[in-house]
Amino acid sequence: MITVKDVKKIYQAGETEVKALRGINLSIDKGEFMSIAGPSGSGKTTLLNLIGCLDKADSGEITVDGVTIKKQKKKELALLRRGRIGFIFQSFNLIPVLSAYENVSFVLSLLNLPEAEVKKRTEDILTEVGLGDMMDRRPNQLSGGQQQRVAIARALVKNPLLVLADEPTANLDSKTGEDILKLMRDLNRKHNTTFIFSTHDPMVMDFADRLVLLHDGEIQSDKKKGA
Ligand SMILES: Nc1ncnc2c1ncn2[C@@H]1O[C@H](COP(=O)(O)OP(=O)(O)OP(=O)(O)O)[C@@H](O)[C@H]1O
Ligand SMILES: [Mg+2]
Repeated sequence: MITVKDVKKIYQAGETEVKALRGINLSIDKGEFMSIAGPSGSGKTTLLNLIGCLDKADSGEITVDGVTIKKQKKKELALLRRGRIGFIFQSFNLIPVLSAYENVSFVLSLLNLPEAEVKKRTEDILTEVGLGDMMDRRPNQLSGGQQQRVAIARALVKNPLLVLADEPTANLDSKTGEDILKLMRDLNRKHNTTFIFSTHDPMVMDFADRLVLLHDGEIQSDKKKGA
């Protein structure tokens, strides 16, 4: 479903070039629950941003669900992103003035769906992540773990093919982080949605069915659980 072929990314930082990715090759199937792990600066965020069509590689090719990113115009990339990819961030990135319900339903308002369907899908997914009785609360009235649940609901409400989560548990205590990972894994199993999450925490890596370790912009190892 996703292929990454010899992808390189170089950042220009003043006079110096930073080789963030030095030739990445990956093939990811539908329904995988995988982690991209590695130390700070190893290229995790860069790789997720490229797979998520938030940025473009300098060379190589990424294909997501049959669409080759390199050939797409900005507007087409935005459409691919909007329809098929959900994002979860380390700092939740919720809109502070909107309720949990509104933070989630907002995503669907971009898709031109009937109002009744927006309501049903929003309520269903918020219930599924365990926030059925907190839909009217704003982010500052929710705990960190609850805010990340809203973000997970927001990512999943459009039934994406792929969910990308950049260090989703980094701002949570370990127990709450574990609950969030279990929720993500349950949703992965139930909906067969592909999840890719980054981390540098060994406990978090352990949850993945497949672990890709990055080091200095290169893949150091790529292992499936039990293999
Ligand atoms: N916009 C940028 N301009 C210049 N250099 C950048 C930029 N973004 C990232 N880098 C550099 O590219 C390399 C990879 O960064 P990246 O953010 O992908 O790492 P990471 O694995 O996500 O790290 P962390 O665990 O700290 O989030 C680092 O050396 C970083 O300093
Ligand atoms: Mg990062």
